[in-house]
Amino acid sequence: MGKLKVAPATGKLGILLPGMGAVATTFVAGCIAVRRGLGQPVGAFTQMGTIRLGKRTENRKPNINEVVPLSQLDDLVFGGWDLFEDNVFEAASHAEVLDQRLLDEIKDELSAIKPMKAVFDKNYVKRLEGSHVKTGTTKMDLAEQLMEDIRKFKIDNGCDRAIMVWCGSTEIYIEKGPVHQTVEALEEGLRSNHPDIAPSMIYAYAAVKMGIPYANGAPNLSCDVPAMVELAHQTGTPIAGKDFKTGQTLMKTVLAPGLKARYLGIDGWFSTNILGNRDGAVLDDPDNFKTKEVSKLGVLEQILEPELHKELYGDMYHKVRINYYPPRGDNKEGWDNIDIKGWLGYPMQIKVDFLCRDSILAAPLVLDLAILLDLAKRSEMKGIQEWLSFYLKSPQTAPGLPPQHDLFKQFEKLKNTIRHIAGEEIITHLGLDYYEE
Ligand SMILES: NC(=O)c1ccc[n+]([C@@H]2O[C@H](COP(=O)([O-])OP(=O)(O)OC[C@H]3O[C@@H](n4cnc5c(N)ncnc54)[C@H](O)[C@@H]3O)[C@@H](O)[C@H]2O)c1
Repeated sequence: MGKLKVAPATGKLGILLPGMGAVATTFVAGCIAVRRGLGQPVGAFTQMGTIRLGKRTENRKPNINEVVPLSQLDDLVFGGWDLFEDNVFEAASHAEVLDQRLLDEIKDELSAIKPMKAVFDKNYVKRLEGSHVKTGTTKMDLAEQLMEDIRKFKIDNGCDRAIMVWCGSTEIYIEKGPVHQTVEALEEGLRSNHPDIAPSMIYAYAAVKMGIPYANGAPNLSCDVPAMVELAHQTGTPIAGKDFKTGQTLMKTVLAPGLKARYLGIDGWFSTNILGNRDGAVLDDPDNFKTKEVSKLGVLEQILEPELHKELYGDMYHKVRINYYPPRGDNKEGWDNIDIKGWLGYPMQIKVDFLCRDSILAAPLVLDLAILLDLAKRSEMKGIQEWLSFYLKSPQTAPGLPPQHDLFKQFEKLKNTIRHIAGEEIITHLGLDYYEE
């Protein structure tokens, strides 16, 4: 297999973050801390991962960055937008995810990163009120202001390339409508202030129009509409969404494939969470929670295939709750009660109690998505990047294709795509060793 033509990762890569709250600031502060030798990039495949190449007997397991050219941490420059004026030091301190002593040590760099004015519409996030917001006559005007921000950011920071990862709040639930179907309809909608164009779509439009890869870390539609996919193909831009796969859903997509592989039945899966950060406050509104609920509910059906295995999963009751509970801040607790059944239908239970740290789990995903989307762009890949489903709770797919939720299948696809880019053999684990000499 020939190597893909991959442009080198020379120069600086701008990482643009709409929404500079808990996740974004934990990500930025973490990258700076790692650069200064104050911590390890735990959880980031691009920084810590190795990849097996060739036959098992060859024992070739290089680091991923030796296989494909990746942007280095030292070459990343951070910027973004928020409706609060706090710089990254202030916002990270407010989020209370990272130790204040660590933040104080890197205060100089963090305070220098100040959010640009946001494109915001309170109708989409009812629980937030902020004054650091752009004004414009139309949504197209706002998109053009964002494009101007991006151009200026790239010049001011000497960036050769940029990518954008939505780390903003979860917007209210909306369904795809006529305005989302074609680039023409979307652009007309932007000019006529169509109410179904959410702020996250205005950011996505600005990025994709400029050929800047875009990933969506929240469950709202954003780039998951036909118009945005069409635009991504027109401008040669890779896109990925939606909703970072952390915490409870990560556990679910680890456990469910295992239970399914053993053909153990499931009668019910009850998941509940308490969390007290700003994300929790936003999700306390039913319209915003609905967006998250839809994203979280989809995973089991696809993995378990109840239509094929009625007797095992046909009557499964699946419920997901999120409860805003301020005392815990970003330290979420997620409980799962799983009622399973074994041989002759005998019932058993599994209880999972995950005391996780939401933004600690999400930060390395922002980094990996950014670095791998930039790789995709330099490899001339465009449109939906399904191989990045590994990072996402509700992966965006081409029309008619069901998403893949099984974490292990997602990881294989990710690694095989890296092998493909590097011109290495795809590994299927299907070697029939008993026939080999
Ligand atoms: N932490 C996780 O494990 C995790 C997992 C999956 C998804 N997410 C999603 O990631 C997003 C960020 O989470 P968080 O914990 O950092 O939340 P957060 O509330 O701390 O930060 C979100 C920030 O986005 C800003 N914002 C909202 N609308 C904006 C707009 N239109 N333009 C610019 N800024 C805007 C808010 O002011 C806030 O500062 C949320 O949508 C959340 O649901 C988080």
